[in-house]
Amino acid sequence: MNSKNFIKSPVDLGAASVIFTKKFNVKNDLKKATLTVTAVGVYEAAINGEKASIGMLNPGYTSYHKRLQYQTFDVTSILAGKEGEQKLEITTGLGWAIGSFTYQMYEKLYGDNMAVNAELTLVYANENETIVTDEAWEVYTSKTEMSGIYDGETVNMLHESKLLGNAVKDTVAEKYPLIEQEGEYITEHERLAPIALITTPKGERVIDFGQNMTGFVEFKIKAKAGEKIVISHAEVLDSDGNFYTENYRKAKNIMTYICDGNENLFKPRFSFQGFRYIRIDEYPNVEINFNNIRAVAVHSDIERTGRFSCGNEKINQLYHNTIWGQKGNYLDVPTDCPQRDERLGWTGDAQVFCRTAALNFNVLKFFKKWLGDLRADQEPNGVIWGVHPNSFFDHPETPTRISAAWGDASTIIPWELYRAYGDKSILEENFEMMKKWVEYMHSTGDEEYLWLTGFHYGDWLAMDAGEDSYVGATSNDLIASAFFAYSTDLLIRAGEVLGKDMSHYRELYKNIVKRFREYFMENGMPKEELPFTEVNPPYRKSIKVIDTVRKGVTQTAIVLILHFNLCTDEERPALADKLVELIHEFGDLMATGFVGTPYLLHALSDNGKTDMAYHLLLEERNPSWLYSVTHGATTIWEHWNGIKEDGSFWSTAMNSFNHYAYGSVCDWLYGVAAGITVSEDGVGYKKFTLAPKPSKKLGHVNCALETVSGRIESRWYYKGEQVFFEFTVPQGTEALITLPNGYTETVCGGTYYYTV
Ligand code: BGC
Repeated sequence: MNSKNFIKSPVDLGAASVIFTKKFNVKNDLKKATLTVTAVGVYEAAINGEKASIGMLNPGYTSYHKRLQYQTFDVTSILAGKEGEQKLEITTGLGWAIGSFTYQMYEKLYGDNMAVNAELTLVYANENETIVTDEAWEVYTSKTEMSGIYDGETVNMLHESKLLGNAVKDTVAEKYPLIEQEGEYITEHERLAPIALITTPKGERVIDFGQNMTGFVEFKIKAKAGEKIVISHAEVLDSDGNFYTENYRKAKNIMTYICDGNENLFKPRFSFQGFRYIRIDEYPNVEINFNNIRAVAVHSDIERTGRFSCGNEKINQLYHNTIWGQKGNYLDVPTDCPQRDERLGWTGDAQVFCRTAALNFNVLKFFKKWLGDLRADQEPNGVIWGVHPNSFFDHPETPTRISAAWGDASTIIPWELYRAYGDKSILEENFEMMKKWVEYMHSTGDEEYLWLTGFHYGDWLAMDAGEDSYVGATSNDLIASAFFAYSTDLLIRAGEVLGKDMSHYRELYKNIVKRFREYFMENGMPKEELPFTEVNPPYRKSIKVIDTVRKGVTQTAIVLILHFNLCTDEERPALADKLVELIHEFGDLMATGFVGTPYLLHALSDNGKTDMAYHLLLEERNPSWLYSVTHGATTIWEHWNGIKEDGSFWSTAMNSFNHYAYGSVCDWLYGVAAGITVSEDGVGYKKFTLAPKPSKKLGHVNCALETVSGRIESRWYYKGEQVFFEFTVPQGTEALITLPNGYTETVCGGTYYYTV
């Protein structure tokens, strides 16, 4: 499509939507009609009042100034058999590009107003006709009188559309490179009925949908003209049972619907909310009818691939919470959370969760698109930011956000996708980015083989630096250098798959590991106290950094050393013992944050401590995975004890109840409890291991994985002291079965039964 064809409204109506309209003629022998559209902002297209675009919030969220997606819809069925004048309407909302966005509430990040670019192609037997956006298009006001990703929406059915005039050319967006739709469409999924109407102690009328989710509430209602529905959203009620919205920070999440006297169906088109409850702030003088109210889940149209259940209902709830966390946060980009004034593509969160994500759903296409934004936003010196698309660009007052474990999304995610789907193109596309990130770490600071400088988020939200710290106690230098080693290792593996000469990087890796061991370790153990690296001053204000962030002997440090192979095999038993000792010292609890948690159970079960892994998995005190479950969670919480034992909140500023990062434990459920792990010499599950580590505490496990090589199943159950196993291996694949008694065999397609 032609990038010169962007048009905008002649009048800036602020947060109100506008409708770009074109009347056109169709002749009777129409064979095919396609509509290609993009926008700066978000859009919905309709022909003769019938929706012509797929899903919502098109064109999705990318680094628009570097890559703006367009979508092509087959609209033949809308126009076939019609003759004469037709009407094409494209309604726009502010979306990510123009509305208030990021927690800094920047406005007009990608343009001075909403703009659209469309191309309608009519194919006849002997000719084609193409209609494009130009100054002949008319612009009208819309019933959507306000919309914003964070703010919500106002839809006024009484609004009478007024002509604002002819469209004017937009010259900002014409510079944006246009690309075909890469990701999945954002579509509607589950429709949940309310489970209760509550009157809170404050007298608020609140509807509970029983599930924290992302999407919106849809109402069907017939009320008098001018009567209003106004609703607020919330994830939780406070300890008194009142409606609680403080953790949304500056995001308003308010929907206003104004009725026109007919039966109206209300739902937003240009915003979404993260919520379990709604408060009815205003309602027409008709009875609330649950049959006409639905909470609709909205997310990228990714296909479910993994299923896991076991004999422990709380673990099943934890798994359920992770699935819903992924749904709610895979909305075009992998977000940290779907409700407060963030909803940003935080790289660390995406990295931590991506292995689990690729087991639960097929996320290849979803991530291919987002990795495109990582590549586009990577700085020439290799920097990967904390957030991609980097909507903080051009805002020098925003301090840089480069951090170990966040930037490593650029190496870890391509590698994990390659493991899961066996698709080399993902490595081909991203190899240069991976290399540049490793080179950035290599060149930063004075120490060639360590990363000892700069700001880091550290072991974010870990519990071992005190209840109020945002950052755990593990040395930032140790974390950064460990990830430097890990990313270099992954780069080498990727290069080898692609047949590249990686000898230079093998040398680099050897030196990093050598220096890591000299600087951070002694006698096979991490050193107790490490030098404290100054944290960038701006972060002292906003992040409660405690200057104990310099410990070497922490759970997370040992987990990283074990999991990233920074120790020798001889050192493993003592390190694993030390990890268990630290868990005991911490009251038989985990103390890890974003960095250590994803690998914690693996570090234990890979090193002979499976019992301790199960102990932590099933722990219910804070901090633990089941703490939130036993406190009523239906998604994964950001903070281990977002709601404290006394019912108060851990924080008002950083307390999302839908933050999938800790859901990363599910990859241990698939990989160790059920025992299904892809082999790196048979990526895409051409080869895999079936090595469940059963525990009586789970009773039984049922797990199925739809892989690109077919459906894998792993089941086991206890009968007395005996464990019965049943495995299904797809045709054309090879599985190495390892049972807890040490028995192993390699099998091909078929179903296999064992008893131990
Ligand atoms: C986000 C996180 C993110 C973090 C950086 C937060 O505001 O919600 O999940 O990774 O900032 O530490």
